Amino acid sequence: MARDKVILAYSGGLDTSVMVPWIGEKYNLDVVAFTVDLGQGEDIERIRQKALRTGAVDAVALDARNLFVDCFVFPALMAGALYEGKYPLATALGRPLIAKLMVDAAREHKAVAVAHGCTGKGNDQVRFDVTFQTLAPDLKIIAPVREWKMSRDEEIAYAAKHGIPVEATKENPYSIDLNLFGRSCEAGVLEDPWDEPPADAFAWTVDPAKAPNEPLYLTLDFEQGRPVALDGEKLDGAPLIERLNKLGGQHGVGRIDHVENRLVGIKSRELYEAPAAVILHEAHRELESLCLSKPAQRFKTLVSQEYADMIYNGLWFSAFHQDLFAFVASNQRFVAGQARVKLFKGKATVVGRKSEHSLYSKKLATYESGDSFDHDAAKGFIRLFGLSQQTQAQRQLLKGNKGFDLPGLLGPESK
Ligand code: ARG
Repeated sequence: MARDKVILAYSGGLDTSVMVPWIGEKYNLDVVAFTVDLGQGEDIERIRQKALRTGAVDAVALDARNLFVDCFVFPALMAGALYEGKYPLATALGRPLIAKLMVDAAREHKAVAVAHGCTGKGNDQVRFDVTFQTLAPDLKIIAPVREWKMSRDEEIAYAAKHGIPVEATKENPYSIDLNLFGRSCEAGVLEDPWDEPPADAFAWTVDPAKAPNEPLYLTLDFEQGRPVALDGEKLDGAPLIERLNKLGGQHGVGRIDHVENRLVGIKSRELYEAPAAVILHEAHRELESLCLSKPAQRFKTLVSQEYADMIYNGLWFSAFHQDLFAFVASNQRFVAGQARVKLFKGKATVVGRKSEHSLYSKKLATYESGDSFDHDAAKGFIRLFGLSQQTQAQRQLLKGNKGFDLPGLLGPESK
């Protein structure tokens, strides 16, 4: 008799390979392996074949790169979402998409459960489970690594016993995750936040000290806050990001060393490489400085922070996200134009920006001839601007002629 099915998020690595027979034995379920290409640079068809050799009853491989960029990465960029001001959220953006596609697959294959390879210590389990719980509360969630408590050697023994092909790769000293918006590296020697990350922790970027001595200049075009062209060439999101990763990486751009506050209550030291993300956030923010009014720019920083936390915490499929995005979409409607970025020795610096919607007015700003700013109006403006402070000083602070007493600021001799 055919067994019920489970959709397993399958990477082709040791953990998720061992899960195929393990879930069969422990839960009496048939495994449908599910692999998504988010630009991690792996051959998903090869992974799909491996799943079938490992005992999956079916295996699905999907290229979701464009969906990932258009519906997840670019909204986060428009929002200016950087977790704790640093992490561009590559992994955190990928998880809800993978989970959503798994739910779709579960419906298609009439599966009763979903499974993933996350540990019980990280953020990723939260992002998967919250998404499953939100979109398909009827599906059972299985997280074998949280349960099985096998060491790597025990897993290898288990794999051998079940005839699972284990590639003879050396154990990586780090825990790595990647998709086209960034690569993360944790564990091993990185666990001491005092130690400088060694060269072998990096894979996408050259050491900035060894980057070319000549800078590289790029021009990025944006429309409604979304990047649309590189050096005048219209590009879809995924190839645009892939190209920026390569160029940025060659110049050592995109290294981020972050001691981060995980959702599960621990601090962890994470090393990111995200050349495209760093370049795009810089360029986008500089273009905003032309196109957004002062209050819109200020308020946006609050939204950016909320947006980043929302993504980091796995709450992508929430009404609150819809509310935040409504603001972002409106806020971004005049963010169009170009930013000119210089890549040099590990830094991406915006050296020029222009926009048809620019609020910058040379006639108002100039100190040279052609100035149209009304200098006479400044006097009356300042009288009113300072009025409340003046009133308060008279009525309160200067009463009794005590003068100003700002401890420490004016110093004892100023009395
Ligand atoms: N700390 C990052 C985050 O929470 C990266 C996680 C990487 N995941 C992994 N399974 N290695 O988004």
